[in-house]
Amino acid sequence: MIENLPKPPFPDLMLLSKPTFFPDDKDKIFLAHCSVSRLLPDASEAICRFNSDQAEFGFEMFYKYGNVLTPFRNTAAELLKTGSQNLSFLTNTSEGMNMIANGYPFQNGDSIISYIHEYPSNHYPWVLQKQKGVKLELLENHTPPEFSLGAETMPGFFLVDELEKRISKNTRMICLSHVQFTSGFAADLKQIGELCRQKGIDFIVDAAQSLGSMPLYPEEYGISAVAASGWKWLMGPIGTGILYTSPEFREKIQNTMVGADLMEQGQDYLNHNWAPLADGRRFEYSTRPLSHAVGLDRAMQSILKFTLEEVFQEILRLQDLLLSQISRELYLPMQFNENRSGILSFIPVKEISYVLENAKKKNLILTERGGFIRFAPHFYNTDDEILQAADILNSI
Ligand SMILES: Cc1ncc(COP(=O)(O)O)c(C=O)c1O
Repeated sequence: MIENLPKPPFPDLMLLSKPTFFPDDKDKIFLAHCSVSRLLPDASEAICRFNSDQAEFGFEMFYKYGNVLTPFRNTAAELLKTGSQNLSFLTNTSEGMNMIANGYPFQNGDSIISYIHEYPSNHYPWVLQKQKGVKLELLENHTPPEFSLGAETMPGFFLVDELEKRISKNTRMICLSHVQFTSGFAADLKQIGELCRQKGIDFIVDAAQSLGSMPLYPEEYGISAVAASGWKWLMGPIGTGILYTSPEFREKIQNTMVGADLMEQGQDYLNHNWAPLADGRRFEYSTRPLSHAVGLDRAMQSILKFTLEEVFQEILRLQDLLLSQISRELYLPMQFNENRSGILSFIPVKEISYVLENAKKKNLILTERGGFIRFAPHFYNTDDEILQAADILNSI
């Protein structure tokens, strides 16, 4: 029985114009967009076409395609509401973080503030800076009492008050994920960005778990750089990434990866003038996986048929639908009021592996991280799928 269902805030989106990205696959309920998403069929087709054109034409394919990174950057710029000169096509989040960390003019005694449970892409690049005498300070984890299991505490969230207290004259950077990959806690980027603006600190955001699922506008929020992966909420190919850098921040970064593609002189390869491009192309240092850029561009275009506000509201509505149906005796959700994201994490009473295996047998696809089962629907998922997912989970 469905009782007290939350009212859909976007009835048009839900009933009329919800995209049917995967029309032939009605049996699978895929709710793992925080992991490796299904590649959008349009994107897959664009990649195949590009590759078969290469098979047929070699370099002559570019008479047809031109420079595919130009439209890619334009689409990414639309997504982030910025200029395309601030965008770079990379292969993953870590690549962006490494280029920033290793190219930043850190001095002995500088400090970086991050959070103790960050994903490795937003941790190890900062750890490397210890070689230069840079201190990495990690914000403590907090968690509601029901998620403290004996001495062990589940990954949860950090406090902005604590972050503010940690800031000193040595702080150069704050490096946080927009959304925590374990608990699904979404940082208040506007608040932290404002803090950084006031204190003259650079704010670096790992947006792998948010880009494509919720609004993220770095210029508006005062963010210096954003790095994200393309195969999660953007539903693009594995091995794609996006880097945003503000013009002022970009100027500070020395190139640590160099090749044929980042100099002003372009294809005048025997001209070895040291003249790195000033815009985001300076991070696309050499030949890129172009078929993947075409694919990610196509995937972003599909999402951009809606606003990110609409996408996010729809995701939250689907989560609310699940929450209204799921047994609280069997599943304990970690819920954040103001800090919700595309990931709704919960701990099951039964073993996680048992739940995931049994869900999979019924074609319900979910993933696990940090002791949580992560429920991560995207806006194209239907109410029917969510209701079926709740039924399946309640029956395990
Ligand atoms: C917060 C976060 N950042 C980054 C990544 C992926 O990093 P990379 O693109 O370097 O593989 C993940 C993957 O799960 C993630 O959850």
